Amino acid sequence: MPDALETLLAELTNADGPTGFEGPVRAIMRREWAAASSLETDGLGSLIARFPGTQERPRVMVAAHMDELGLLVRRITDDGYLKFETLGGWLDQAIVNQRWRVLTRSGAVPGVTGIKTVHVMTPEARGQVFKKQDLFIDVGATSREDAAERLGIRPGDPVVPDSLFQPLAGGTRYLAKAWDDRVGLAVIALALRELDAGGHPNEVVAVATVQEEVGLRGAQTSAHAVQPDLAINVESGVAADYPGISQDEAQERLGGGPGIFLHDSSMLPNLRLRDFLADLAGELGLALQYNVLSGYGQDGSAIQRAFAGAPVVNLTVPVRYLHSHTGVVQRSDIEGAARLLAEVLRRLDADTVARLRSFDDER
Ligand code: CO
Repeated sequence: MPDALETLLAELTNADGPTGFEGPVRAIMRREWAAASSLETDGLGSLIARFPGTQERPRVMVAAHMDELGLLVRRITDDGYLKFETLGGWLDQAIVNQRWRVLTRSGAVPGVTGIKTVHVMTPEARGQVFKKQDLFIDVGATSREDAAERLGIRPGDPVVPDSLFQPLAGGTRYLAKAWDDRVGLAVIALALRELDAGGHPNEVVAVATVQEEVGLRGAQTSAHAVQPDLAINVESGVAADYPGISQDEAQERLGGGPGIFLHDSSMLPNLRLRDFLADLAGELGLALQYNVLSGYGQDGSAIQRAFAGAPVVNLTVPVRYLHSHTGVVQRSDIEGAARLLAEVLRRLDADTVARLRSFDDER
């Protein structure tokens, strides 16, 4: 029988929420954060939940994004195939020959990105990648009218990977789509369950952002709505513990505990906040790992640059095979991240945040 955490992870990853169409995920987070003193959306759709503690300030923002990679119907061909735009950063070879669900006003329509059969291909062509602009979705329609009128498909309809949550290795690891960044939402939900009501010397503002995968758009607007004194962004980390990926590309591994990004192409963490988390993890005996990435952009960078700037760190759960139909995570890393986050929130009082926000040279 799945326990409460496994049930939440399955529900979050099975939910449809391609970039710009996060409604079903927002509904789950509204329920998860029902104990908040206020629950509202900003003008772009990010969900903002306030949890008062014993003090009104500091105001600590914890954020994770709701959207996942998807596609968007561009047009229907005369013979009923769908041509599409991508939502988020897909590898071309991750798109072809996969099952998808087209989300129409009248429900989900299944389809497949068809792949040309090997039987007709020259030996040279067999080694080539199928480019996304040449791909299409076959929904079984016989014509444009059939797709539009009988199946209800319209240009602009979002498309999500058809890929259901599944425990691996007896439930120590999990396979699912959309760990990026439903795992971050799960960590925040878990940490807030651990925090006793009012048991923190600050106001915690939990934010589920929209449209991260197309340029951190929801983080930008929600950071302006919240105006945090300090923030922790929770994201999918990059595991580099499988064949063909090297420690020079990424350094996290499954089972190594939560991670902190020391560098990605969008952000450097606040140094004092980085050390605060590292010291606390040491004190609690929690494993913590680091990642120095050359690529990757994440919401923390939009939050740290809002208004006059704020200390931000990106806390991660390592994930294998990001930005594809199926990623793999380890349960103990999620639990470790939630424990660390809950303890951080318990300790961020006014003096501590003032010290973390200071750039006086003496530390
Ligand atoms: Co992400």
